[in-house]
Amino acid sequence: MKIFVTGGAGFIGSALVRHLIANTGHQVLVFDKLTYAGNLESLASVQSDGRFAFVQGDICDAEQVKNTLEKFRPTVITHLAAESHVDRSIDGPGAFIQTNVVGTYVLLSQALDYWRRLDAEGQRLFRFHHISTDEVFGSLGQTGLFTETTPYSPRSPYSASKAGSDHLVSAWRHTYGLPILITNCSNNYGPYHYPEKLIPLMVINALAGAPLPVYGNGTQIRDWLYVDDHVRALQAVFEKGRPGETYNVGGGAERRNIDVVETLCAILDEMEPRGDGASYKKQISFVTDRPGHDQRYAIDARKIRSELDWVPVETFESGLRHTVRWYLDNRAWWQDILERTASAAGRRGLEAAS
Ligand SMILES: NC(=O)c1ccc[n+]([C@@H]2O[C@H](COP(=O)([O-])OP(=O)(O)OC[C@H]3O[C@@H](n4cnc5c(N)ncnc54)[C@H](O)[C@@H]3O)[C@@H](O)[C@H]2O)c1
Repeated sequence: MKIFVTGGAGFIGSALVRHLIANTGHQVLVFDKLTYAGNLESLASVQSDGRFAFVQGDICDAEQVKNTLEKFRPTVITHLAAESHVDRSIDGPGAFIQTNVVGTYVLLSQALDYWRRLDAEGQRLFRFHHISTDEVFGSLGQTGLFTETTPYSPRSPYSASKAGSDHLVSAWRHTYGLPILITNCSNNYGPYHYPEKLIPLMVINALAGAPLPVYGNGTQIRDWLYVDDHVRALQAVFEKGRPGETYNVGGGAERRNIDVVETLCAILDEMEPRGDGASYKKQISFVTDRPGHDQRYAIDARKIRSELDWVPVETFESGLRHTVRWYLDNRAWWQDILERTASAAGRRGLEAAS
């Protein structure tokens, strides 16, 4: 297959590309604007592979999308390009509407145009796979899980923009017959995660001796999934998923934010003890809660498990250990980002990821 990956220089996109090059025979073209969140260093291990290509491009630029589709002629478009950070969406929603809503519209229009000009067999095989989030479903109480039929109830500018893009993708199926797939996934974590997100932020602040900022009382619950498990799910969906279907993806690993931070501290205490012998937990500091902070997300992933035989390989604890080890062993990757991006460093004391 020829896979056109938008946002392939980001956290999940780059994990998908590394996985596809290492474990499949697919050809991959990454189409990425290289915003602050895109990083070619995350693709360094595949850059010299003959099945890998990169185009710096903006999904809002119809002409550039069209030309790249024509030249590469993909079987699958996996659409990950997005503005992805909830806190940034609160400070500046415009970029989220532009990339996530308008950009998805532009990409869909060009994909439809391209698909209509394929022969019958090409049309039958083609897939437009949109990668989305469980945040579109809103917030859960103490019980219950998000299923594929849970009504949408987005509550942040980020989740509203992703909900909008999901609806556009569904509409292109119902109105024009484009063979689409949608996946809604819970919180990812793992290597190459941008330092503003909760887990890398905590590891980096801990090592710097800085406060570990936890929103509110830290009782918000997220359902965590190791990024390599997510990319295996994405592959299963675009290879075997039924066109027009939505699949929820989650690790069945619900944790309170405070428990995530405390577990990270315990792993760091073991792998890289503080000079004074105290626990990193000493650095935890509670900060004013995020406006409109959703209380709980949790995914019912039975559909993808039963229909596509997908199961996560990592437990939360094993995935977290790999992640901490990676940040300890790859300091150049994140130190580079901190040096280059003053805003990331400036916001570190205030932000914790969704
Ligand atoms: N991180 C999570 O926990 C999570 C969970 C579920 C779903 N998702 C979704 O998965 C996708 C990828 O998330 P991520 O965490 O890897 O995000 P990320 O912010 O790490 O990466 C986004 C990538 O998109 C690129 N990009 C941004 N605007 C672009 C544009 N206009 N044109 C082309 N490229 C552009 C960036 O350069 C970057 O490489 C997003 O759609 C996100 O909504 C993320």
